[in-house]
Amino acid sequence: MPDIVVRPMKDGDQDGYYSVRSLTYNNGDPYPPERMQLAGEGHRSFVAEVDGKIGAVCDVLDLSSTRGQAVLPCGGVCGVAVAPDMRRSGVGTALMSWLVRHMRETSTPVSSLYAFREPFYRKFGYEVAGMRLRVMCPTTRWPKFESRLPVWRTTPGGWRELTDCYAAFAGSRSGLVIRTEKQWQRVLGENRQLTVYVIGKPAEAYAVVSHSTAFWTTDHVSEVAWSTRAGYEGLLGMLEGLAINKAGLSWFEPSDGPFYFEYLDQGCQITVERPVMYRITDVPAALRGLSPSSDVSGEFVLRVEDRLIPENEGPWAVRFASGSVEVAKAAEDPWDVSMNVRHFVQAFQGEPGIDHLLKNGIAIASTGSALNAFRTLLPPQATYCMDFF
Ligand SMILES: CC(C)(COP(=O)(O)OP(=O)(O)OC[C@H]1O[C@@H](n2cnc3c(N)ncnc32)[C@H](O)[C@@H]1OP(=O)(O)O)[C@@H](O)C(=O)NCCC(=O)NCCS
Repeated sequence: MPDIVVRPMKDGDQDGYYSVRSLTYNNGDPYPPERMQLAGEGHRSFVAEVDGKIGAVCDVLDLSSTRGQAVLPCGGVCGVAVAPDMRRSGVGTALMSWLVRHMRETSTPVSSLYAFREPFYRKFGYEVAGMRLRVMCPTTRWPKFESRLPVWRTTPGGWRELTDCYAAFAGSRSGLVIRTEKQWQRVLGENRQLTVYVIGKPAEAYAVVSHSTAFWTTDHVSEVAWSTRAGYEGLLGMLEGLAINKAGLSWFEPSDGPFYFEYLDQGCQITVERPVMYRITDVPAALRGLSPSSDVSGEFVLRVEDRLIPENEGPWAVRFASGSVEVAKAAEDPWDVSMNVRHFVQAFQGEPGIDHLLKNGIAIASTGSALNAFRTLLPPQATYCMDFF
C-alpha cells in the first residue's frame, strides 16, 4: 500500500495537479500556463500525494443548496482524477475518505456530485436522491395553450431578471443551487451564445436556449424553470413556436414537473437522466440548518449508521419548534428512526422520502408519533439540481 497524504492544493502544486488533471479531463494535452491557476473564491482544489508525488486531484465548488426554504452549504465535488498508472491501488478511496471528513470540518454539511459510477461513491456515504426527467415532446404532440403572459427575450447578461423566479422554483424543492453572480455566469456563459426567453414581467418562467438553425432536428433546451402554473403554460406556449420547424424539443424537469402528469401523449418520451448523488457530512449541522415552518413542532430520536464518520451516528435528540431545530446527543437507546447515512440523505432531501425508505425496509421506525415528527420536519420533496459540474 503506497503512502498517501491528501491535502489542499498549494502554490507550487500546479505542475503536478494539472498533469494529473489533463490525463482525465484534457485529452492528455498540457494546460496552457495561463489556465494553471490556483482555485479562486468559492472553489477549493485538493491533491493526494502518493509516495511524495501528486497522484490524484479533485475540486470542491462551494455551493448553497436548498431543502425547501432552507439553504445549506453544499460542497459540489468535481474533477476527481487519479493518475492512470496509480488507479486501483486505493488512492481514490483515500482521497474521497479524507474529503468527506474535510468538508465536515470546514462547515460544509452537505455534498453533491455526479458520479462516473454510483457504487464507487456509495462507499463514501453518497446516494442518489431525486430524479431528473428528460421530457421529449414531438412537435406534432405539442399541448395547446392560450397564455396571456408577455414573452420577451434577453441575454445571459440579464440573469438578474431570472433570480426571483429561479429562487421560487428552487425553494419549493431540494438540492438546487442558490446561485451567486459568478455561478449564474458559469451556467449561462457556455461557449455558444445562449438566448433567454422570459415569460411574464416579472418572470414567472424562463427557458435558456442554445439556438440551432437545423430544421427537423430534436433540440435540447438548456434550462427551464417556472414559479407559477401560468408561467409553465406560457413556457410551453413559447417553446411551441421554437419547435415549429423542429421534429421536437427536449428539456429537463424535476419529478414533480407537470408535463408527465398533465400533458403526456403517445410519442412523448420521458427518461430519467444524469442522477445526482448527495451526502450529509455533518448530521446535526444539517438538521440544525433546516427551516421548518414556525407553526409546527415535534421531536424524535434519530440514529444514523456512518462507518466513515462515526461522529454522525448519534443517536440525536431532534426537537423543532418556532421555526428552528435543536439537536443534542441522546442516550444509545431507545431511538425512534434509524437508517444508514446514504439513506438519511435521501430522507433529508425528500426524494425518496422517509415513507418509501420504510416501505422498502431501508429505514426503521419504532413509534408512530416520533415518525410523524420526522415526516413533518423532513417531508417528501422533489430533489433536483440544474447545475452541472
Ligand atoms: C474513479 C477513480 C477516481 C477511482 O480512483 P482509484 O484510485 O482507481 O480507486 P481505488 O483504487 O481506491 O478503488 C477502485 C477499485 O480498486 C480496488 N482496489 C483498491 N485498492 C486495490 C488494490 N490494492 N488492488 C486491487 N484493487 C484495489 C477497489 O476495491 C475498487 O474496486 P471496486 O471497483 O470494487 O470499487 C479513478 O479510477 C479515476 O481517476 N478514474 C478516471 C476518472 C474518473 O472516472 N473520475 C471520476 C469522475 S466522477
